[in-house]
Amino acid sequence: MFTSDSQSQKKPVTITLTGAGGQIGYATMFRIAAGEMLGADTPVRLRLLEIPPRGVKAAEGAAMELEDCAFELLESVDIFDDPQQAFEGANIGMLIGAHPRTAGMERADLLEANGAIFSQQGAAISKSAADDIKVVVVGNPANTNALIAASHAPDVPSERFTALTRLDHHRALAQLAAATNTRVSDIKKLAIWGNHSASQYPDVFNARIAGRAARGVLREHGKDEQWISGVFIPKVAKRGAEIIEVRGGSSVASAAHGAISHMRSWILGSGGEPVSMGVLSAGQYGVTEGIISSFPVICDNGCYEIDNSYEIDEFSQKYIDKTVQELLDEKEAVKTLGLLGESL
Ligand SMILES: NC(=O)c1ccc[n+]([C@@H]2O[C@H](COP(=O)([O-])OP(=O)(O)OC[C@H]3O[C@@H](n4cnc5c(N)ncnc54)[C@H](O)[C@@H]3O)[C@@H](O)[C@H]2O)c1
Repeated sequence: MFTSDSQSQKKPVTITLTGAGGQIGYATMFRIAAGEMLGADTPVRLRLLEIPPRGVKAAEGAAMELEDCAFELLESVDIFDDPQQAFEGANIGMLIGAHPRTAGMERADLLEANGAIFSQQGAAISKSAADDIKVVVVGNPANTNALIAASHAPDVPSERFTALTRLDHHRALAQLAAATNTRVSDIKKLAIWGNHSASQYPDVFNARIAGRAARGVLREHGKDEQWISGVFIPKVAKRGAEIIEVRGGSSVASAAHGAISHMRSWILGSGGEPVSMGVLSAGQYGVTEGIISSFPVICDNGCYEIDNSYEIDEFSQKYIDKTVQELLDEKEAVKTLGLLGESL
């Protein structure tokens, strides 16, 4: 369905969006309907999944507003509270809804609450989605939620379940551009490795700015390794917390933009340049097989491949090992809770 043949691009694409009554869902669906994810020549059908009563009501309100926009590309909007019905015929799954971390909740409680949601949704995708289904998980803990969903979807290749780290990639691009007084469009080969959490590793050592090694450009701006480890990495990794502190609420529009960019690159291609995506490791770069970890990937013609041209020095390896260990700990925790299915 997602080929470069313009005839087939004009076929409507069915998108199931979960958490449609929440903030990121709201910030995402209007842009999809306006053609910003799949292009101005691709009609879309939206299937919204929420939980009753409040979530469903909020999704109904958002659907009324979608109607009021009279988007030419929007063929239909349907609202569901049953995952199996919601994923019927879906070509794309945007899994945004998740159980929030509430006061007094331990990490294991959060993993358990989300494990129940994502195992059910993985099974529903396996049963009722279209053969070409592609999934991005936004709801946190995104990498492990994606792993749980994949493990409960025997009829879908596990590589089709991915986690959102594009927001982190964008944050890193913006910080690097600001630090070197360059444009984000001049920066190539940046990467986010590992978990979408404070342990993530934003890697500038492979990055190029206007064709030059980013490290050299940084040095010219008085920014050494100390700056990378003491300022840049924590700034990117803790940006979500900083937004909460300043804005009084979590990232919404930037997360929606990340999710839209993730899917747009996957389906329409990344123009030969690497972007960051949480994808299933087959052991690349020494990342343990069988976890969903962020890597630099190149997308083309509806497929992605991990870019194998990055060099990992001792400095980078230390950071990658730490974030991978966190993913392994999360996997072990959900395994102990009996939340991992058989199909990985
Ligand atoms: N990966 C990232 O880069 C990134 C960035 C920002 C936020 N997030 C995460 O995205 C998620 C959504 O954030 P938000 O600000 O939209 O939250 P929100 O609380 O505004 O909305 C979440 C919505 O999900 C719904 N929901 C809960 N369980 C559901 C289920 N089983 N099926 C369908 N819907 C369900 C809720 O009813 C709610 O309307 C959170 O987990 C947040 O931590 C991820």
